[in-house]
Amino acid sequence: MGLLSRKAACNTHGQDSSYFLGWEEYEKNPYDEKKNPNGIIQMGLAENQLSFDLMESWLAKNPEPAAFKRDGESVFRELALFQDYHGLPEFKKAMVDFMSEIRGNRVSFNPNNLVLTAGSTPANETLMFCLANPGEAFLLPAPYYPGFDRDLKWRTGVEIVPIQCSSSNNFQITESALEEAYKQAHKQNLKVKGVLITNPSNPLGTTTTREELNLLINFVDDKNIHIISDEIYSGTVFDSPEFVSITEILQERNLQDSDLSERVHIVYSLSKDLGLPGFRVGALYSNNEDVVSAATKMSSFGLPSSQTQYLLSQMLSDKKFTSNYLKENKIRLMKRHDMLVSGLKNSAGINCLESNAGLFCWVDMRHLLKSKTFEAEKDLWKRILFEAKLNISPGASCHCTEPGWFRMCFANMSEETLNLSITRIKDFVESFNTVSNVNRRQQRRLLRSPRMGLTKWVMRLSASVSHDSEPER
Ligand SMILES: Cc1ncc(COP(=O)(O)O)c(C=O)c1O
Repeated sequence: MGLLSRKAACNTHGQDSSYFLGWEEYEKNPYDEKKNPNGIIQMGLAENQLSFDLMESWLAKNPEPAAFKRDGESVFRELALFQDYHGLPEFKKAMVDFMSEIRGNRVSFNPNNLVLTAGSTPANETLMFCLANPGEAFLLPAPYYPGFDRDLKWRTGVEIVPIQCSSSNNFQITESALEEAYKQAHKQNLKVKGVLITNPSNPLGTTTTREELNLLINFVDDKNIHIISDEIYSGTVFDSPEFVSITEILQERNLQDSDLSERVHIVYSLSKDLGLPGFRVGALYSNNEDVVSAATKMSSFGLPSSQTQYLLSQMLSDKKFTSNYLKENKIRLMKRHDMLVSGLKNSAGINCLESNAGLFCWVDMRHLLKSKTFEAEKDLWKRILFEAKLNISPGASCHCTEPGWFRMCFANMSEETLNLSITRIKDFVESFNTVSNVNRRQQRRLLRSPRMGLTKWVMRLSASVSHDSEPER
């Protein structure tokens, strides 16, 4: 270890969170319908595999871009040599037009304010490097995407202070929660540089309401800080209320040319809406010239390749394709979401937070916990992983303050696999209830037994409880 830098050796990367540990277990024993039907099903990965056929059919009808061609001529050499970190102008134009389309063309974006990055991961980190010094803080509504501990903190030295949201109001952001987080940061001697929200939310699958967005704008205005809106799931909103971007609120309040608008930054990527995390295409958008200039220089550390930019500029410029894709993809997401929600409810008596977006549900399993603790949540998570063979993400990994919530992804598998996951949960809950009932009956019987001394009774009872909580691997 002495040979490595402090950065390489420090553990703020978050790799030991159960979010990543679940992935590791899945890798050891991955489910495959034919080759490994008893393996673990991956429900902890927010991937969108539902609309690849639409893109494949576009590629079949438009073979030139993938073959390095334009109007029959090769563009191979041009692309091979392209190394301007401002990115291909035609791609930046296609990206901003796509972002407007997702927002119903109610707002437009200037390609000169867009900085390309290799996904949202570096876009978020770049904004941290631009807006905060090591030891300064950003406030994040919790529960939040587990990867943020790595993306925002690890290399930048920036701290995250959670804005504690609760199930009592469906995890919405309130003024008192914002003020409380701000106070907490000060107590920890951390200077607050901004708020970062995810709209729609990962892990909740809900869109941020107009009221929340107005509240946030007022808050950052009052405190003279920044706001970053990670809108990576903006194209996945499959049900009402429709998606409202923070840029729309600025426009509605006539703030688009104000000082405040220079403290509002957007993060986007094609990893979720188009389901292309492997292509590494993302961007940050800012009205702040200095941020755009610094971030553009930093983007030389991770730009999407010119060949990817070229291919996607052609695809996204085909407006007939994008409009059909966005519509059809939402229909498919909604169907999957409904399958999971009704499957959990009808077959296992499990409820989900009402949601309208994203690639996952926020599932309430508080009633299955042995006690209202994160220890009990971890026990349940392990049992679901090793007995039901489902990798789901526990709320603790998303920094949720209430034990018993889990994120379940539904768009990274086939319909058959999703049905199998629901069956596995149903069987798990049935066996769980049977064991609990047996335990309860045993306890009643033991209590009624006149001959059993107190010590013996306690020993019998604790043996049956500890056996029950031990996961079988
Ligand atoms: C809220 C949020 N931001 C950023 C990312 C990272 O996305 P990318 O693949 O574009 O780096 C994710 C991925 O799950 C996410 O959920």
